[in-house]
Order: sequence, then structure tokens, then C-alpha cells
Amino acid sequence: MNRFASPALFDLTDFLNDKRHVIDRALEKIIKSHFSDTRLTQAMRYSLMASGKRLRPVLCMAAAETVGQVNSDVIAAACGIEMIHTYSLIHDDLPAMDNDRLRRGKPTCHVQFDEATAILAGDALLTFAFEIFASASVLPANAGIWLAVIQNISKAAGHKGMVEGQMQDIAAEGRMMTMNDLKTMHGLKTGALIEASVVSGALLAGGSASDIRQLEIYARHTGLAFQVVDDILNVEGDAIKMGKATGTDASRCKSTYPALLGLSQSKAFAAELVNNALHALEIFGNKADSLAAMANYVIERKR
Ligand code: IPE
Ligand code: IPE
Ligand code: MG
Ligand code: MG
Repeated sequence: MNRFASPALFDLTDFLNDKRHVIDRALEKIIKSHFSDTRLTQAMRYSLMASGKRLRPVLCMAAAETVGQVNSDVIAAACGIEMIHTYSLIHDDLPAMDNDRLRRGKPTCHVQFDEATAILAGDALLTFAFEIFASASVLPANAGIWLAVIQNISKAAGHKGMVEGQMQDIAAEGRMMTMNDLKTMHGLKTGALIEASVVSGALLAGGSASDIRQLEIYARHTGLAFQVVDDILNVEGDAIKMGKATGTDASRCKSTYPALLGLSQSKAFAAELVNNALHALEIFGNKADSLAAMANYVIERKR
């Protein structure tokens, strides 16, 4: 389909394995030094260390490599973002939200523990992420960059981003949204945190203002493509591979791209978004190979 379709050019499997390993090790290290063994931390750990794809941390590191190098600040940002994402999944699955029982191949947090513990585990993961951000760098020179990163991530996660997107998603249950409203909702609930992941990695690796502008365009298209594919997989994906239930959007009368456009037009739309994302990377040349491969992965993935 495009220049990274051939595995000979970029070994995505190796890249993903390497980066996921780095993140899982960093998360384990953080857990070891910060978590005492309580019911709350057991629930936080249970959801955080289940088999997530680690897409946002990997994008954060790939963006850093595109403009510079992965350093310990990039890893700290990537870990905190994964905590925020995991909190959003725990709350998304609650009975008052999507009422799902399977996540990352395991019983959802409220099923494994109980509803109150799941709410609190989500709250604690969200808060803990900001502790990690605020304690990350020992270099005073990086303080200003961290402030920008924290501002970016908090905006993306809260009422100007993911939480508002979740609100719109819930409010629209049972009625069909317009294409424009759907795009806005997806951009908020999923796109915003993906964009913040890319921008944070690039900022912490010393990216310039013009680098960041290009990467924002890349991330906006990739983030939307990711949610379009999530909706497609909810229709035709394999629940075992995905580690979560399928067919749930239709049963809850959710507005999704497949519901509005049909499957084949949704796939064409996702491919078009990825092409736009790849276009935005051209100024970086081969340095953006990993980000390009990640954009392709977003539409080719089966989980
Ligand atoms: C699922 O995200 C929720 C969406 C925003 C679509 P992921 O598909 O990245 O979930 P994990 O992290 O791999 O479990
Ligand atoms: C989840 O969206 C988005 C967030 C957690 C912010 P969905 O409800 O569409 O995703 P899944 O299918 O449960 O992973
Ligand atoms: Mg939901
Ligand atoms: Mg859900």
C-alpha cells in the first residue's frame, strides 16, 4: 500500500517487541519503588501490567527517535501516559459506562476486584502519572519543557480531550451522530492522548517548533485512524485476539464509522488517514521510519 508495506524495509515486529519491553521494564521498576502491597495497588497493577499494546508509549518513543533520542524523560512521559490510558480503560469498562467484562484478555478491573476499587484504581493511576511527570527530570534546564509536556498531556486527558470525548460518546448512545460530530468525538476521546504521546516524546527529545507542527499533523491522522480501526475491529475482529468483547458497539447503538459509512468505506477512510499521516513525515526522511511503520500498524493490526 505504501513505502513501509514491505517488512524488509523496517522490522516492525522487532521494533514493537523492543519498545514494549523497555516500557514494561520501566513500569515494573516504578511499581517496585512506589507501590506497597495494598488492595488498591493490586488493582492498579492488575490493569496496568495486563497485556496492552503499549501503542501510546511506543509512539512517544518513536517520535523522540524521529527528532533526537529516547532519554529517561521520554521513558517517564511514556510510562505516565500508559497509566493515564489504563485509567481511562478501567473507567470506560465500568457498569455506568460501557459495562464490559473483558479487557486486555482478562476480567475487567471491576469484575476482578469490585466497582469501588476499580474507580479508585483509575483515580490513583491518573494522579500517579502526574507524580511521575513532576519527579522525572533532575535537570533544571528541562523544567520548562516538562511544564509544556504536562500542560499538553493534562489538556489531552481532561475535559478538553479524552474525558469530553467519553462524555460525547455516552451522550450519543442510541442515536446516530453526524459525520462531523463523530470525527470531533473520536478526536477527543482517542486522538487527543495519541497526539499528546507523540508531541511529548518529540518535545522531551529536543524537537523544534516546526518538527512538532508536522508531528501533530501525523498524530491527528494516526489517532483518528486508530479509532476508526477500533470501531471496525468491534464489528469484525476476533475477541480472543483482541482481549475484549466485540459486537458491543452495535448492541449499544453507538455511533461509529462502520455504522455511518459501512465497513468498506470505513477501511478506505482509515487508509486515507494513514496516507495523510505518512505525508506529514516526509520532512524527516528515514528518521521517521518507525513512526511511518506505526501508522501502517494502526490499520493493519488485528488487536
Ligand atoms: C483501546 O485502546 C481504547 C481505545 C482508545 C480505542 P488500545 O487498543 O490502545 O488498548 P490497549 O492499551 O492495547 O489495551
Ligand atoms: C475507549 O473507547 C476510549 C477510552 C477509553 C478513552 P471505546 O469504548 O470505544 O473502546 P473499547 O472498545 O472499549 O476499547
Ligand atoms: Mg467507551
Ligand atoms: Mg469501551
